[in-house]
Amino acid sequence: MQSPVTINGHDLVLLVNAALEANYSDVRKVGSKLAAQSAKADLEIGQLIKTSLQKRGVPLRTSGYSESLPTDPKSRAPLVEEQPWPVTPIFLEEKIKNVFDSFLSDIKHHEKLAKHGLAGKSNLLMSGPPGTGKTLVAGHIAAQLGLPLYIVRLDSLVSSLLGDTAKNIRGVFDYVPKMGGVLFLDEFDAIAKVRDDKHELGELKRVVNTLIQAIDALDDRAILIAATNHSELLDRAIWRRFPYRMNFALPSNDLKKHLWDHFLFKGKGIELNLTLLSRLSKSLSGADIESISMAARRDAIKKDSEVDVSLAAMAAIEFETQNSEGNGDEWHGKSNKQATNYLHEKFGLSHIEISKVLNISRQTVSGYLRG
Ligand SMILES: Nc1ncnc2c1ncn2[C@@H]1O[C@H](COP(=O)(O)OP(=O)(O)OP(=O)(O)O)[C@@H](O)[C@H]1O
Ligand SMILES: [Mg+2]
Repeated sequence: MQSPVTINGHDLVLLVNAALEANYSDVRKVGSKLAAQSAKADLEIGQLIKTSLQKRGVPLRTSGYSESLPTDPKSRAPLVEEQPWPVTPIFLEEKIKNVFDSFLSDIKHHEKLAKHGLAGKSNLLMSGPPGTGKTLVAGHIAAQLGLPLYIVRLDSLVSSLLGDTAKNIRGVFDYVPKMGGVLFLDEFDAIAKVRDDKHELGELKRVVNTLIQAIDALDDRAILIAATNHSELLDRAIWRRFPYRMNFALPSNDLKKHLWDHFLFKGKGIELNLTLLSRLSKSLSGADIESISMAARRDAIKKDSEVDVSLAAMAAIEFETQNSEGNGDEWHGKSNKQATNYLHEKFGLSHIEISKVLNISRQTVSGYLRG
């Protein structure tokens, strides 16, 4: 028989009120506590609550709750959106993982650190190429802290009427910390784009100053994360306000193997295939590896067959040659013999790897290479 799950009366009252007010931060806060407590009596119920907490709430607009969401005065578009917690794992290079861990641990020990005058601002700046996992990291941080993630697209803040940008920034910075969530500023470099022709230099200064003031005015407990593809466009004064930094790069060979293993083989890949695919994906991001993998898996499902490594490898080569050579021409239309030589020279593939990619025997590969 299942054990009954007990709920503290105050939590129940809080939960009912939060639900009726569509106050997702409180629903998640109480929900996370209940999930942990329930799991002790009944693991399955605990899991079910956790799964429910990962759902996106009803759009705030339909719940009537949107009244309080800051919007752009001209377009009336919301400047802040709540994102659900991610359900996929994240794979990080060691250096970034260390920052990730210490950021979380410093936040969790904030009070203790504050007592010794050692609590700093919880501001994290992530920079790096597209598709390397920055947004995913923000989601994982919010999930680990059990807090809602409020995402602000800086480009929508900035594209408003002249003069409204500063007002928009204040609106967002006033709103989110009050809600007790993680404030995530995506496309952070958009701030720098105020430099564009339609805005004059005075406007840029005003915007950057407003932003700096808003960051400085944040309560010590506020959690601010920003992400950019172009860190070089950011003002130095802004940089200084982020004590935690993560510089993303395209994944290393080792990380690529983890990504291929997870996305293509669901964690059951063999070393030979993982090494092969990681060799073929020098300039691919995690998002590229994911999209190639999904296509190969869809293909396998449709054909009722195993995942075709050769198909994924071909797609990776296609990406790779397009990235480095422009249009992939030097790869297309090659005979097997030419392709064998190309894979050997450009990617340093072994005989067995080439035979896998081209679906030809190892003897044939050896013959071609000898020739
Ligand atoms: N390191 C990683 N670990 C796990 N998944 C990853 C990783 N990098 C990328 N992905 C996959 O690619 C998707 C896109 O990544 P994400 O949106 O986090 O990239 P980003 O760095 O924010 O890119 P952009 O700069 O374009 O916003 C993720 O949802 C995930 O599925
Ligand atoms: Mg992103």
